[in-house]
Parts: sequence; structure tokens; C-alpha cells
Amino acid sequence: MTPAGWSPTSWQSRPAAQQPVYPDPAVLQSALAHLSRLPPLVTSWEIENLKRQLAEATRGERFLLQGGDCSESFEDCESSAITKKLKILLQMSLVLVHGGRRRVTRVGRFAGQYAKPRSADTEKHGDTMLPSYRGDMINRAGFSVAERTPDPELLLRAYERSALTINFIRALVDGGFADLHHPEYWELDFVEKSPLAAEYTRMVESIGESLRFMETLAGSTVGEINRVDFYTSHEGLHLPYEQAQTRQVPRRPGWYNLSTHFPWIGDRTRALDGAHVEYFRGIANPIAIKIGPSVTPDAAVALAERLNPAGEPGRLTFIHRFGAKHVERCLPPIIEAVQRRGLPVLWCCDPMHGNTETTSRGIKTRRFDNITFELEASFRLLKAAGSHLGGVHFELTGDDVTECIGGACGLTEADLTKAYRSQLDPRLNYQQAMEMAFLLARLMAQSRG
Ligand code: PEP
Ligand code: CO
Repeated sequence: MTPAGWSPTSWQSRPAAQQPVYPDPAVLQSALAHLSRLPPLVTSWEIENLKRQLAEATRGERFLLQGGDCSESFEDCESSAITKKLKILLQMSLVLVHGGRRRVTRVGRFAGQYAKPRSADTEKHGDTMLPSYRGDMINRAGFSVAERTPDPELLLRAYERSALTINFIRALVDGGFADLHHPEYWELDFVEKSPLAAEYTRMVESIGESLRFMETLAGSTVGEINRVDFYTSHEGLHLPYEQAQTRQVPRRPGWYNLSTHFPWIGDRTRALDGAHVEYFRGIANPIAIKIGPSVTPDAAVALAERLNPAGEPGRLTFIHRFGAKHVERCLPPIIEAVQRRGLPVLWCCDPMHGNTETTSRGIKTRRFDNITFELEASFRLLKAAGSHLGGVHFELTGDDVTECIGGACGLTEADLTKAYRSQLDPRLNYQQAMEMAFLLARLMAQSRG
């Protein structure tokens, strides 16, 4: 049900953080009017299916795997990049299904992850000060007045790129994708170099065996008998864009954001009385909110009550991102406060955003060890509190980049410049992401035991 006092525009009377300033409001209005006439990218029944799956994950019957680029770029909207993004999520999810013995819901940070919060509104080089780059939906990364001026036409380009991406994803999911299931085709060089090599080799073999067994049984490929679903997500940051895609649908109550299945509120825009929380409280989608070290237990409870007053299971996910240094101090009191009120929350660990550091040469990176520490601690602390970790959220890519340090592939600080491609945050590369899946499967199996 739509909450009292809410409408798709009610956020406009609240302070909205992290919004670009457009030189000509009339041009913005015309782009938004155009956007609000264009067809939706996802449907209400897909959204409701995902909400049911997230309710299962909240009860411990399922696991959420969410991942993708920190920010998508228009340039990467091409077939091989999209295929690789699906491939890494699919392969990781198979490892989790087989090793962790839990059904897995796959959600990409894709088909709409084009707007970024920034720590400063402007950037200065020499004597020139320009607006910060805020994602391809808003302006361009190059450092010139033309590139950095927010351009409303980019909202339409982002919508179109999202549509092209989701169209190709739907086509891949429908067929032609089954060979990606087979571990014999995966590139798992790291396995031999890992201290857990024997255990990982056994896991790879058993995934292969059970897939072959299922195919023999069904006489067809797993891709056909067991259609895999992918859902989309992005940070719902640019509120005019989100509003333009907020619709009512026939025979279902409420308003849906039909630009994505599972939008989230970022750690910088989660003010209780701010515009983002106001917008999100009224949409019917399952939603997530990122919480970092500055959130208090009372604030977390207030957000959960504002965003999910009816206590609907699957509606609300907390993506906690405290960092290896703070997770043991920050997470337990929040779990306790949420439990005391009996609020249904899906706990999903983002071990990336609290673990970003800058090297002495000024390169943004993350250490594999800190990422695994935060994950392990989250499993342990939730279990100790009588709850469970129900999902994970990664920044990763299917490409062979060098952005994060560590892992069995042995990436060092000196390697970072070899293939550093991210415009924003550092991502796990293909090998690191697969290794993370094996580690996670192990943690899932242990936390059940
Ligand atoms: C992100 O997910 O890219 C991001 C900016 O995260 P957070 O809001 O947790 O800082
Ligand atoms: Co990021």
C-alpha cells in the first residue's frame, strides 16, 4: 500500500543530497518528460518474484549474490563486457549453490548503475575548477567545461544503454549461455596457488559432476532445464530520473520503480528526513540501504521503520559496509537493536566500500585480506546473535584488471598500474572474484555447521 502523504514527487519538498545542478532547468524538464513516456525496463511481476526470493533469504533459505561495476560506463555497453559480467556472477553463484548448499539469487549492479555520489562537488586541476564527474548519466569523466557540465540528454542515453543491456541479458539468459556452466571451461589458475588448493579442487570436481549428472538425467543442458534468472540493481541516486520511471501498473496496488528491480540508497544519501528516504519509502520494490560506520543503532532502526513500516519480509535489505577495522564494533549493536524491535531485515555484507585505501602513489585499492576478514566477521557475528548473513555485495568485473591487492593470484601494489581500468572504485578481477566465491562457499558451509 502507498504510505500516507507519499507521492512520486513528495521527495521534492525534502533536501536532496548529491544532485547535479543543470544549467538550464527547462532542458532537464523536457528530457524527464520524454523519459516518463518511454516503456519500463523491468516489470512488476519480476519485482514481486525478487521480493519473494529476498524474503526467503531473510529467513535463511536462500542467499543473495549482488555484484558488478562500481559504475557502468556507456563505453562498456558492448557484448563481450556484458557477457563477462553475467559469466562471473553465474559462475560464482554455481560455486555458492554447490559449496554452500543454498539456492542463490543473482543481482547485477548493471543496466542502470550510471550515477555516483562524490565526496566533493568540484575538482581542481591547476587553476581550473570544474564540477566533479558524477557518472555517465550526469556528465563525462574528461576534464573540460563541456564534459563536466551536467547534460540532461545523458539521462536518456543512460535509459537507452540500460535497455540495450537488459535486452541482451534477457537474450543470453534465454539461451546460448549454457557452456558457461561447465567448470572445465572456467579459468581457475588461482586454485593451484591457493593454500586451500586441495579443497577447491574437490569443489570444482563436485560442481562438474553434479552438472553432468543433471544433464544426463534431463537429457539436455542445464541452461535449458534450469533457467537462471538475473535481476538488476543500481543506486537510486538521481531522483528526477527515478521519479520519471515510477509507475502504476494494472491490477496491482502501489507504485513501482520500473527502471530496476532492486534499487538501493547509498551511505551518503540515507538521511532519515532527506529526499532519498522519502522517495524510497513509497515505492513497492524491494529496496536496500547501505549502512556504514557513521550509522547508530537508533538511526538504523528508525530507517528500517520508515522504509518498511508494515514489516514486509523481503522488502528491506541492509547492505552493511563497515570495513575490516570497524565491523566487529559496529555490526553487533545494530543487529541487536533490529532484533529487539523484531524488524525483518536481510543482512547483506558489502566488504568493499569500508575497505578502500589509497596507496603511497595515490592509487585507490582494496586488499583481498581485508575483504575476506569483513566477510568472515559478518558470518560469525550474525550467527553469534542468532541470525545469519543472507547475502553479499561486491564490486567486481569478469575482466583481468589489476585494481585490488592480494588473493592467490598474488597481485601486489606494484602490479596495480598494469591494468587499472576503473574510473572510480577498485574491483575484484575474474580470478579474485572466483576465489572469493570459493571462500564464501566455505564460510556458508561452516556457518551452517
Ligand atoms: C557504491 O556502492 O558504489 C557506493 C558509493 O557505496 P556506499 O554508498 O556504500 O559508499
Ligand atoms: Co563503489
